[in-house]
Amino acid sequence: MNWQDRPVLVTGGASFIGSSLVDKLVCLGARVRVVDDLSSGRVENIQAHIDAKKMEFIQGDLREAGVAGRAVEGMSVVFHLAADHGGRGYVDLHQAACATNLMLDGTIFKACLNAQVDKVVYASSGCVYPNNLQTDPNQIIYLNEDMVGPPYDADNMYGWAKLMGEMTLRAFYHSWGMKSASCRYFTAYGPRGVENHAVIAMTARALLGQDPFVVWGTGEQVRNWTFIDDIVEGTLLAAEKIDDGAAVNLGTMERIKVIDAAREILRYTGRDARIELHPEMPTGPYNRVADNSLAKKLLGWEPKVKFIDGLHRTIDWYFSTKDPKQLSAELQRMLTER
Ligand SMILES: NC(=O)c1ccc[n+]([C@@H]2O[C@H](COP(=O)([O-])OP(=O)(O)OC[C@H]3O[C@@H](n4cnc5c(N)ncnc54)[C@H](O)[C@@H]3O)[C@@H](O)[C@H]2O)c1
Repeated sequence: MNWQDRPVLVTGGASFIGSSLVDKLVCLGARVRVVDDLSSGRVENIQAHIDAKKMEFIQGDLREAGVAGRAVEGMSVVFHLAADHGGRGYVDLHQAACATNLMLDGTIFKACLNAQVDKVVYASSGCVYPNNLQTDPNQIIYLNEDMVGPPYDADNMYGWAKLMGEMTLRAFYHSWGMKSASCRYFTAYGPRGVENHAVIAMTARALLGQDPFVVWGTGEQVRNWTFIDDIVEGTLLAAEKIDDGAAVNLGTMERIKVIDAAREILRYTGRDARIELHPEMPTGPYNRVADNSLAKKLLGWEPKVKFIDGLHRTIDWYFSTKDPKQLSAELQRMLTER
């Protein structure tokens, strides 16, 4: 797909992932429009492009009448990333708020259909996978796309809404021919990440020099954190190569325990703190790692950034941009809010 001069909408484009995608699309010469209500996104993330007149920004809530229709007008590709979403603490503790994604997704998809956009790319999630497959951290299991099926057992209202979004897009393709792809992101991290996600939360604690150093869960939970550049690359490839609403995992196959990530953050930042585990806090599934063979096959995509390298880059960014005084006043709230 040639991105030069292509009119492209990124919903939620002021977010961590959204703004990183915008950077890349601007670089490729696309005509980018962003719609975002800034409920969790930050305009600073895209301000340089706005100032340089490299993109158009609409501030609006896509659930409000008329906003989605206006946003998709004239667009060739719509990357739909807007969502009521946060980290583990947020999605566990805000069921009703995350349920509004059902309405948000339905509204934008119908607007895309009406406007006859060429392709919709949907930011789905590892949260669509059945919880019951992800309970034993000692089991070596890689979640592959076929494991999402009856009996469905998605992760919170957030995961159910993502699952319904994927299924809606597939139905729209089969019944009405609207082309789409769903990208199942697995715990993205990197520069512009926010404190309600584990890697940034732990990096924030290190910046503040917290001792004891609090880690939520037993620390044994396994994740496959996926670096933002790889997420962006996979999302673009999905736009280029998938038409039929297929969902594809974008995740590494590295199995990292949270406790090991915590130890590496302490080591790299030169902190000598005692780790204190809090199993009573929101933890999420104990074993979530993607199988990324379908992405290799369909997209020719493979993650390029190893966790250890991406983690160091993320810490370097965080330590060089954040003000500990301001962080210290806000961190507690940021861990479970957006
Ligand atoms: N961060 C991850 O690890 C991860 C993993 C899986 C999926 N995702 C998905 O990727 C997308 C981007 O997530 P993120 O982590 O970068 O940040 P995020 O959750 O902050 O992004 C959501 C964006 O949508 C905007 N938004 C929310 N409701 C809106 C509305 N009604 N109208 C207009 N804009 C609205 C927010 O202001 C924000 O900019 C989301 O759809 C999220 O569910 C993220």
